[in-house]
Amino acid sequence: MPRNGSRGPPTGVLSPHALRARAATPPTSSSGGPKRVALVTGGGTGLGLAIGEGLADDGYDLAIASRSTEHLARGATSLRRHGARVLAVATDVREPTQVDHLLAEIRSEYGRLDVLVNNAAGNFAVPAESLSPNGWRAVVGIVLDGTFFCSRAAFPLLAASTEASIVNVVAAYAWMSGPGTVHSAAAKAGVLALTRTLAVEWAARGIRVNAVAPGPVRTEGTDRQLWTSEELVDRVRRGIPMGRFGTPEEIADAVRFLVSRRASYITGQVLAVDGGQWLGKGVMDLLGPVSSDGGHHPGRGGPGQGDGPPGPGRRRIPTGSRRRARSPVATSR
Ligand code: COA
Repeated sequence: MPRNGSRGPPTGVLSPHALRARAATPPTSSSGGPKRVALVTGGGTGLGLAIGEGLADDGYDLAIASRSTEHLARGATSLRRHGARVLAVATDVREPTQVDHLLAEIRSEYGRLDVLVNNAAGNFAVPAESLSPNGWRAVVGIVLDGTFFCSRAAFPLLAASTEASIVNVVAAYAWMSGPGTVHSAAAKAGVLALTRTLAVEWAARGIRVNAVAPGPVRTEGTDRQLWTSEELVDRVRRGIPMGRFGTPEEIADAVRFLVSRRASYITGQVLAVDGGQWLGKGVMDLLGPVSSDGGHHPGRGGPGQGDGPPGPGRRRIPTGSRRRARSPVATSR
């Protein structure tokens, strides 16, 4: 029996009829009504920008948040070219007061929020025993605290939306292992648990919560910071069953699907968009790739082989940099 004593759903819980009505609501207004609004953290560059551009193409207006005003300015210019109205707010997602300010700006500018994409991340490769407490706090703060602070602050606006959803950007090492990036792996695992928990807690408020787990993707930033040689690019590529890197647009497409009406009954799920990379890390692949004659051929450099990629689950800390490898990691967020 609901606590309010009535026979209807408890206060704040939507009836199946109301939820169906929400699902029937068009994703964007094609009839001149207000456009739906999406907030993308880390939305000025790389994957975050590609996700914002995809949402702009779907008719959303955008809010983007980043610590860097330069990234915000560049991102906003690009998003406007995709037809979106853009609100850019300098924000450190680790700071709850800054996150509250960000949501207040969105409320004042748009009066609504329909989609939150928790994409902001920080990462660098370092052996766990050399990771300083501050280094741990920096990454866990951005990834885990930031995702929670943004979700919590966005809740009132999302709960008022007729078609609300959150997408969190994680990585396969959220459920596998991330040698060399223990801070990020632990934080992403926390985000995955948060995704599933909020999906259940907020389902009755009409907010779906899902995650995407991108595999290796080439962006301007990762090409500069990570994919620094063709030899490395080739080694990573050979570890991906589909034999190629993903594109930022392919990651954005997964987000566009998850926030769309076509995903209206999907919540608490994680969608790996990685060309099969993490599945290629299975035990049996140690026997080598299966050929068309049905046999295994060890030593051909298939996924999971000794020369596999430095991706999630198989990162190598280069010799000579074991004390503190300062290369930022962006194979996955
Ligand atoms: N290797 C080892 N330790 C590192 C490091 C690295 N590459 N980068 C930062 N740290 C440590 C710092 O030394 C400091 O610890 P200390 O005080 O014990 O020395 C702590 O982390 C905080 O560093 P700081 O640079 O002050 O933090 P920040 O909050 O300004 O930035 C990052 C943290 C992770 C965002 C920053 O290192 C960064 O910009 N990384 C590259 C970009 C990136 O990660 N993009 C996302 C890709 S997924």
